[in-house]
Amino acid sequence: MINKEIADALNSQMNFEMYSANIYMSMASWFDAKNLTGCANWMKIQYAEEMFHCTKFYNYINERGARVLIDGMPAPATEWDSPLAAFETALGHEQIVTSRINDLVAQAIEAKDHATVNFLQWFIGEQVEEEASVDGVIQQLKLME
Ligand code: FEO
Repeated sequence: MINKEIADALNSQMNFEMYSANIYMSMASWFDAKNLTGCANWMKIQYAEEMFHCTKFYNYINERGARVLIDGMPAPATEWDSPLAAFETALGHEQIVTSRINDLVAQAIEAKDHATVNFLQWFIGEQVEEEASVDGVIQQLKLME
């Protein structure tokens, strides 16, 4: 069993992962509308990854005997000034996710909840990949300017 503060924080991050998925699907739709199908496909793959992250939190919260709660998420943006602007927005979003994961780890350490610290280690590594992946596309797009 996890304490209520940790359960609330994990639920919040689970919902944030779903919000992240919505952002990427909205970006996919914007790219598809502009016939940039390669970028749209990149965003759809990212959408699926975010839903995988969401499900990992869902399963962990459930396994630890807490209740999974879905909350209302803000609507994602629907327009960007350019492909580069969309990917830069994505990088900024991933940096927020990284910061949230770091805060969660700190909270779990403070609560001496080592199982949750261990669970979150996967996300620490994943965020390094996520940021590097988006940044790689940004570097390519800048070369094309
Ligand atoms: Fe689930 Fe892209 O962070």
